[in-house]
Amino acid sequence: MIVGQVLLDFGDGFFLRQADAGDHAALCMVCLRTGDAGADATWREDDPTLMGHIYAVPYQVFASEYAFVVDGPQGVAGYLLGALDTAAFYHRLETDWYPVLQGRVFDPGPDRSNWKGSDWARHAVHHANLSVPEALAAYPSHGHIDLLPEARGRGIGRRSMHFLESRLAASGSTGLFLDVHPRNSKAQHFYAVLGYEHVASASSPTGSAFMAKQLAP
Ligand SMILES: CC(C)(COP(=O)(O)OP(=O)(O)OC[C@H]1O[C@@H](n2cnc3c(N)ncnc32)[C@H](O)[C@@H]1OP(=O)(O)O)[C@@H](O)C(=O)NCCC(=O)NCCS
Repeated sequence: MIVGQVLLDFGDGFFLRQADAGDHAALCMVCLRTGDAGADATWREDDPTLMGHIYAVPYQVFASEYAFVVDGPQGVAGYLLGALDTAAFYHRLETDWYPVLQGRVFDPGPDRSNWKGSDWARHAVHHANLSVPEALAAYPSHGHIDLLPEARGRGIGRRSMHFLESRLAASGSTGLFLDVHPRNSKAQHFYAVLGYEHVASASSPTGSAFMAKQLAP
């Protein structure tokens, strides 16, 4: 059964559609299964939805125009998420999203040697770094793409990123950046093939490597 309008048809039963509020559980599932630098993080997390509530669900809530899922023969097989104005999006997270999450999870404290399971994410909820590094000033938008193994290697990533770039550029964005895990060399290669370049920043949060691309108006 196809729910929602097909925005891109990738063949073999895979297609892109707008995400909606009914997709939150699927967004969390994809985030968990790609959350260890692109690999499955299920083994690590004791809270299977917290990562998704940090890195995926808020895009459907606050930037729904740029929130999409890749559906496949077995159901949701990935997502494509973007925010046109990163600074404004981060502000919404700070005022309307993180306070709610903070009420749901405890702060495990600063001593990493005591952290277990999802404590790193609980700590991130209570000590979120929502500043945009100065080096990214020329790239006002940002995005995320995560596909489950069955959706990879079919050209879905390439076509999806082009789609997001076009949508953002049509809305006036002049640049898009992605926050890639430094250990995720496969994703860094993928973005490089698509024309993204590394942006060095002294103020990058630990565990971040930024890649960015100018968008044509
Ligand atoms: C990274 C990812 C989005 C790429 O999407 P994809 O649909 O698999 O990629 P495509 O099939 O569109 O490939 C486009 C190009 O990227 C490169 N590429 C794709 N996957 C690659 C990989 N695993 N290793 C190296 N290069 C890769 C190739 O050059 C490819 O072009 P080619 O097929 O003509 O050689 C997807 O594999 C994925 O979601 N991986 C797991 C989660 C993840 O790492 N997300 C990124 C977090 S920042």
